[in-house]
Amino acid sequence: MSRRYSRITGTGSHLPPRRVTNADLVAELAARGIETSDDWIVERTGIRARHLAAPDVPASDLAVPAARAALAAAGREPGDIDLIIVATSTPDMVFPSTAAIVQHKLGMAGCPVFDVQAVCSGFVYALTVADALIANGTANRALVIGAEVFSRILDWSDRTTCVLFGDGAGAVVLEASDQPGILATDLHADGKYVDILCVPGGVSGGQVLGDPLLKMDGQAVFKLAVGVLDKAARAVLAKAGKTEADIDWLIPHQANLRIMQGTAKKLHLPLDKVIVTVHEHGNTSAASIPLALDHGVRSGQIQAGQTLLLEGVGGGFTWGAVLLNM
Ligand code: UT7
Repeated sequence: MSRRYSRITGTGSHLPPRRVTNADLVAELAARGIETSDDWIVERTGIRARHLAAPDVPASDLAVPAARAALAAAGREPGDIDLIIVATSTPDMVFPSTAAIVQHKLGMAGCPVFDVQAVCSGFVYALTVADALIANGTANRALVIGAEVFSRILDWSDRTTCVLFGDGAGAVVLEASDQPGILATDLHADGKYVDILCVPGGVSGGQVLGDPLLKMDGQAVFKLAVGVLDKAARAVLAKAGKTEADIDWLIPHQANLRIMQGTAKKLHLPLDKVIVTVHEHGNTSAASIPLALDHGVRSGQIQAGQTLLLEGVGGGFTWGAVLLNM
């Protein structure tokens, strides 16, 4: 019997309508006595704008239109789906999962749904789990979504972090296939780095316990990121029996253009083989890879049959990569 693989059959994404340029943000922060500049943000990160959700819009409201767009691209209806995984660190509620809320908003019922919490690596974690559940026959057609409203957990008085992030959602339909599809996956984490990127708060006795806003040691994250991403990239290539030369597109987590340039250089890939959306989206955590993937597909850059390397890195510390054929 031939092996069961999983294959992406449709992509979709959604951004909240409010686009905030660096100039808008610089002016807003200046009014609060916080000094930053378009030059600093562009030079250090490559970010020029981000989209921010209205205060009453939860992650599920971004996830649902992204999911609908992916379903339409795959030629599928919500009723065709038998698994939903949402990667998010900004869920609608403590529980139930955002995936359960998305399922209901899509008018579905019955199939298993859950969230994956691996911060900016969330989408590669979720895709890996969905691939495994399809390969072992648990599911046939999955919706895998990354959805975030990071604007809710930012400290808007901390210029070292508040200029970096944005809100959005991206989704794929992943279907069982006798052709790959996903060629190899590689996931890692090291909890000793919890403190370098975290939201160190929780809910207890009806109160917020600790600090519910994002903290990041940017330089520590930066230094770790390039090395671990290179290792994960090489691991998936080795597992699939491929080389750097087989990569048509690198789709990295969109945190910082300099990290993406460093990763591409280590893989001997020219920058025109890297899908870059950080300038328009900022860092949207678990949503950034599926947002970039959908952008690459809809702009006509990514073509059927091409080989893509997706790689994520973020809080935990977590990191991983997925190598796949479109
Ligand atoms: O998504 C999860 C993964 N996250 C990441 O990958 C983020 C990784 N890290 C980074 O992207 C970069 O470290 C940052 C973009 C966060 C920061 O860039 P950097 O080149 O590491 O800058 P820095 O932290 O060393 O700060 C340099 C200077 C400091 O001033 P002094 O001490 O040199 O006088 C900061 O106070 O820049 C100052 N600074 C700012 N200035 C203007 C920090 N934030 C700002 C700001 N505007 N927004």
